[in-house]
Amino acid sequence: MRGTRVEIRNAALAHNAGRAKQLAGDAEVFAMVKANGYGHGLINAASAMQTEVDGFGVALLEEARQLREAGIGAPILVAEGFFDLDELHEVRQLSLDVVVHSPWQVTLLLENPGENDRIWLKINTGMNRLGLRPAIALQAAEQLAAAGMKPVGVMTHFACADDEQDDRTARQLMLAQEVADGLGLPLSAANSAALIRYPHSHGKRVRPGIMLYGSSPFTWRSAAEIGLQVSHRFSARLIAINDIQPGEAVGYGATWTAAQAGRVGVVAVGYGDGYPRHAPSGTPVAINGEPSVLVGRVSMDMLTIDLNGIDAHVGDEVELWGDAVDVDAVAKACGTISYELFCQITSRPERIIV
Ligand SMILES: Cc1ncc(COP(=O)(O)O)c(C=O)c1O
Repeated sequence: MRGTRVEIRNAALAHNAGRAKQLAGDAEVFAMVKANGYGHGLINAASAMQTEVDGFGVALLEEARQLREAGIGAPILVAEGFFDLDELHEVRQLSLDVVVHSPWQVTLLLENPGENDRIWLKINTGMNRLGLRPAIALQAAEQLAAAGMKPVGVMTHFACADDEQDDRTARQLMLAQEVADGLGLPLSAANSAALIRYPHSHGKRVRPGIMLYGSSPFTWRSAAEIGLQVSHRFSARLIAINDIQPGEAVGYGATWTAAQAGRVGVVAVGYGDGYPRHAPSGTPVAINGEPSVLVGRVSMDMLTIDLNGIDAHVGDEVELWGDAVDVDAVAKACGTISYELFCQITSRPERIIV
């Protein structure tokens, strides 16, 4: 057995969802489970959290369909909305809450009116990705209402709620609130960062993602400080231990050279498993719970770690992230975010759900 595995902890998912619910106060919590539940398994994550939350958020219709096929009857919000008329029909068939973010979607609705559509009108308040500008949104809401499809809510998405020096969210919130008030509709705006940090942004419905998966949206505040539990642990086994002499280099490109005589451990995990290839020497790992670091370049099936001063044996377990190694510390070392680390694990590692 190679022993490269991802352990998904469903009790931690439920705990984190409960924490989101506690922070949300009176607002509904829609747990974002898009992108395969941030790598935790779409159906698995939704099932683990369903008793704690009011509904789920996905990006795509396919994801909503999979949830429905698995028997999830809770409300589901499709954040990118329908892509064509067939999808609009299916949104209706599956009783989904649907985000309408573009004029072409409004046109498609007006040409094909429905009776019980649950439309969330997405407003561009400064992210400049998806969303209607406020004036266009007001007009669209009027046209939709006249055709019997009054939206059920107004939605926006924050660009910088996680920034320590954030000075944009207040303006985004004000613009969205103005549209919501103008239309007499409830608002949904908050992601994890805003849910934790800006209680006045909660509105009717919050949409946390990353916090549910045991990672902090902030670089300056840890997941443990927010009261979150680890839900994703990535580990592999040591398959070789090599002595190394001063001046000898390790791995492709010879990017790391030993300054002194020592030992290097070879671990059975690489970018073919989804561990980031660009993780630099010095990225934290743990062996038998003891801290160590990556040395040399990550290859497809293996990576190498420093074993100096560590009592280690072939077969020992190396944690890439989880309990002893904070996923957010790995993300920081790699210049990325935990979202990407969770999402890019390939199908190769064994998955264990506990
Ligand atoms: C529309 C929307 N709402 C909410 C979220 C959740 O954000 P986070 O994972 O930062 O909490 C996302 C994720 O990117 C999103 O796209």
